[in-house]
Amino acid sequence: MAPVLNLSLSFLLFFVFHSALAAPAVTYNVANFGAKPDGKTESTKAFLNAWANACGSTRPASIYVPRGRFLLRNAAFTGPCKNNAISVQIDGTLVAPSDYRVIGKTANWLLFQRVNGVSIRGGILDGRGTGLWSCKMSGKNCPSGATTLQFSNSNNIGIRGLTSLNSQMFHIVVNGCRDVKMQGIKVIAAGNSPNTDGIHVQLSTGVTILKSKIRTGDDCVSIGPGTTNLWIENVACGPGHGISIGSLGKDMQEQGVQNVTVKTVTFTNTQNGLRIKSWGRASNGFAKNILFQHAVMFNVQNPIVIDQNYCPSNKGCPGLVSGVKVSNVIYQDVHGSSATQVAVKFDCSPKFPCSGIRLENVKLTYKNQPAHASCNHAGGTVAGLVQPDNCL
Ligand SMILES: *[C@@H]1O[C@H](CO)[C@@H](O)[C@H](O)[C@H]1NC(C)=O
Repeated sequence: MAPVLNLSLSFLLFFVFHSALAAPAVTYNVANFGAKPDGKTESTKAFLNAWANACGSTRPASIYVPRGRFLLRNAAFTGPCKNNAISVQIDGTLVAPSDYRVIGKTANWLLFQRVNGVSIRGGILDGRGTGLWSCKMSGKNCPSGATTLQFSNSNNIGIRGLTSLNSQMFHIVVNGCRDVKMQGIKVIAAGNSPNTDGIHVQLSTGVTILKSKIRTGDDCVSIGPGTTNLWIENVACGPGHGISIGSLGKDMQEQGVQNVTVKTVTFTNTQNGLRIKSWGRASNGFAKNILFQHAVMFNVQNPIVIDQNYCPSNKGCPGLVSGVKVSNVIYQDVHGSSATQVAVKFDCSPKFPCSGIRLENVKLTYKNQPAHASCNHAGGTVAGLVQPDNCL
């Protein structure tokens, strides 16, 4: 009798453990809430209903978006939720309204806020921004445009294999978040599209961007105030304005940027490569402990640049100097071609000179000749082969 009892007991235990571990997530298919894959029927409500169910579930939940094109207006997917494991699997394409004015005045097309443990896999987000870009480029009075996808005040976020196409404004924004991992992201927009930053991070810590390809009209990645512990690896940028810390120092009271690693990145025909940029005016902001490692430049206008005299349209800063302190910035193994003669430019604040700049094995050419460097108020060291000549 005993062995039999033992057997059934272990069977029972196995069953109990197994079902607890593999607690099957409930799946909410947007099609079951009335979403239509025809690209014409507005499906916003269906998506929001699927979200309400997933967010209200006490068990892990998933949302499924099948193949096809789903027309969505601006939508906010808001927490807190009753579980901390919501996965969104997108096999189809989400398309913004064809008339850019419909979402053009809202800050975000798709907004996730106050969520914890949300992951998005796959999918194409088509912001249909070309109409708005033309409006802006023609100098008319246009709405400023919506960010395609924003995560705000959220934790433990994963975004994998997502493509963002033709965003009106920024493609992806991470704001006020902790622990966000993005991997295999594709950003596609015209090289002359205005304000279409690929991924913008601010007021966030523990953000990782891996294995992504960004072709756009503004910064591939822009790193705003209050960004700490950011890791960027294996990113191909171009066209675009490079990977940019800044603009910093727009406000007097501002959180600093620290502990940023950018490694194994390529820049192709971009305006900048590795850039730090601050407004030329008073601020208590800073950027420190930055590592740029293994970067390759192909025909980049400003491969390495620190510009602390940013002052668009000369408004609010003439005659002022930047209060942003830039320190401990390492450039390690950066090589390739510059599209202009000055490949290394450190134009720092006269009041707070850049300090602890280090160039290690940097080789940049212009028309197959060593490029030039220019330094203003910048101090630091060089090691290994450094071309252009050191001006620190
Ligand atoms: C810097 O950030 C990385 C993640 O990008 C993290 O692993 C590391 O612990 C951070 N270092 C410090 C000193 O905070």
